[in-house]
Amino acid sequence: MNSRIVVVYKSSTGFTQKYAEMLAGKIDCTLAVYKDATPELLSGYDIVVFGTRAHAGRIDGFRKMKEMFRKSEAAKFVLFVTGAMPNTARETINAFWRQNFTADEPEQIPHFYMQSGLCYEKMSFSDKLMMKAAAAMIKGKKSKSPEEKEFERAIAGSYDISSEIYLQPLTAFLSDISDEPS
Ligand SMILES: Cc1cc2nc3c(=O)[nH]c(=O)nc-3n(C[C@H](O)[C@H](O)[C@H](O)COP(=O)(O)O)c2cc1C
Repeated sequence: MNSRIVVVYKSSTGFTQKYAEMLAGKIDCTLAVYKDATPELLSGYDIVVFGTRAHAGRIDGFRKMKEMFRKSEAAKFVLFVTGAMPNTARETINAFWRQNFTADEPEQIPHFYMQSGLCYEKMSFSDKLMMKAAAAMIKGKKSKSPEEKEFERAIAGSYDISSEIYLQPLTAFLSDISDEPS
């Protein structure tokens, strides 16, 4: 058991939970849900891995989790984000990191993106409304860019493009740093 690492996850429709469970299984560490996380809980570990979703361009729960980490005695904060964007959309993903991080954070916080999909069946009412509004906005446009057409197609229904493959860079990173002396 790797007693130095805790993986805290925040998941609404299950994709982040699935990745977090796979990760905890691979590196054999503690798994905790975001709503149970406290600075005291995090203080019992050296490395805190936070897994969450991309939500309307933002990292869901990021601010609160950073605050909790700051108040804890844990040494390292690592982030992974799941989202509907495919991993091949490097430019969009880089823009996403840029709009969520302060100038220093890309260096300070190791961060990993994992493609997941959409699950309308498990989505909250307010999230369904947001998706409906996005779909209506694009539908109403007279001329659509190729990106908008692609986005319209992508949000039309549920899909799952998650895979263990996308977890590998994070698993490798954690194996490396957890071998280092604390
Ligand atoms: C309202 C809403 C907004 C979303 N915004 C984004 C986004 O900005 N970028 C993205 O890649 N995925 C976005 N997604 C897709 C989710 O990030 C994706 O389904 C995620 O894996 C959900 O995680 P969960 O199942 O753990 O809750 C959005 C989904 C919803 C419902």
